[in-house]
Amino acid sequence: MKITTAVFVKGSTSVRDIFDDGIPHYVFIGRSNVGKSSTLNALTNRKALAKTSSFPGRTQQINLFLINDSFYFVDLPGYGYARASGAKKKHLGELLALYLFETHNPLLRKVVVLIDGKTGPSKDDLYMISLLREHHRDIIIAVNKIDKIKKSEYVKQMKLIEGLVGQDCIPYSAEKKINLETVLDAIVR
Ligand code: GTP
Ligand code: MG
Repeated sequence: MKITTAVFVKGSTSVRDIFDDGIPHYVFIGRSNVGKSSTLNALTNRKALAKTSSFPGRTQQINLFLINDSFYFVDLPGYGYARASGAKKKHLGELLALYLFETHNPLLRKVVVLIDGKTGPSKDDLYMISLLREHHRDIIIAVNKIDKIKKSEYVKQMKLIEGLVGQDCIPYSAEKKINLETVLDAIVR
């Protein structure tokens, strides 16, 4: 598939109304700083469609980007961001849970879980994956930042990650633009 248009439509702090237009959602999720926003930019070939930052906690809303006038890529706040205030963390966590687990809308087509290839899955990642499976979500696991893995460790590291998450993963790098087509094809297949 080729992405020809990508337009930011809205950022929402609630799950009310976000499915009202009948357009399907493909969602990116992962811990803060794993590269969700960078991945969106890389896949759409835009430099700053989604705002990125070297500081975790950049994205704080459910952001909808309309792709090819036919579906949304959804950029979400990251989880596991320790420095957010208690109240803010609670709100972001509740927003994620409402959107991913409690809103049983078939328009939520697929959830792409991003894992940091250098550090491997965190406890939060593994917990999130188990919750998504419990709720019968269609998930893809993509391993970002593979440019940071030493060549000599790459095969071992990918095997380790796939063993921990219990399924095949798609390795890629948003920054170095490695294997993006495979990620895109797996999402919209
Ligand atoms: P939050 O919105 O805070 O949850 O973060 P996010 O997951 O959206 O991460 P973001 O895209 O803002 O990227 C975080 C940092 O990781 C930035 O400094 C990016 O440049 C960097 N980054 C993203 N992808 C890659 C990659 O493939 N390789 C490397 N080396 N760095 C990357
Ligand atoms: Mg972000």
